[in-house]
Amino acid sequence: MSPRSDDVRRYLRQNQELFGDELFLNLKSPNVLTSENQNTDLSSFEDEICDCQKCSLGSTRSEFVFGVGDPDASLLLVGEAPGAEEDKKGEPFVGRAGKLLDKILAAIDRSRKKDVYICNVMKCRPPNNRDPLRSEVEQCEPYLLHQIRLINPSLIVALGRVAGQTLLDVDKSLKSLRNTFHDYHGTPLMVTYHPAALLRNNDLKRPTWEDFKVIKEFLEKKN
Ligand code: URA
Ligand code: URA
Repeated sequence: MSPRSDDVRRYLRQNQELFGDELFLNLKSPNVLTSENQNTDLSSFEDEICDCQKCSLGSTRSEFVFGVGDPDASLLLVGEAPGAEEDKKGEPFVGRAGKLLDKILAAIDRSRKKDVYICNVMKCRPPNNRDPLRSEVEQCEPYLLHQIRLINPSLIVALGRVAGQTLLDVDKSLKSLRNTFHDYHGTPLMVTYHPAALLRNNDLKRPTWEDFKVIKEFLEKKN
């Protein structure tokens, strides 16, 4: 017997009250969010989703790349998708771009272990580093949303055009997305250059540093 539509509506409304506008239907045991169990919540969420086969990247990845860092971080950095080295190691931003990102974080007195969490929109590597498909993003983005709810950062920084466009669901240039505080489901979001872009073009280092000064000031004011 199929459930009556009133029952379905009531169920959905309860879910919405509990979890907000993004319904998260595949959680086996939704966790109640409290700050002292953020760490275990985040790692049990990782355990729940790390065998994901919702899109075809599940069968081509080596490692699922959930994210790394402080589960209680005020700053969340979001890249596009794992590359070859990340796919091998299961950790985001471990290649050349990641090394540069570590230097940028050190310059604002942070690190991937200290008040920063780093992840990607996509948890699995698209073959040959192609852009993720819209269908793949649609399957994967609810994971990011749930991570954000668990971490509850003060600021999200999207690294690069693809991450910015994807999170904000707009087709604008990176230039036009910079220098603004956007809103991502209630959390302020900034877009800056991808560290890989800085490796290709030295001229982008200066504006990126300007962005990170703004990030630092914003977070200092929050504390
Ligand atoms: N580029 C990204 O966007 N993410 C990574 O994890 C590595 C490189
Ligand atoms: N294109 C990107 O993907 N990232 C940048 O930072 C700049 C251009």
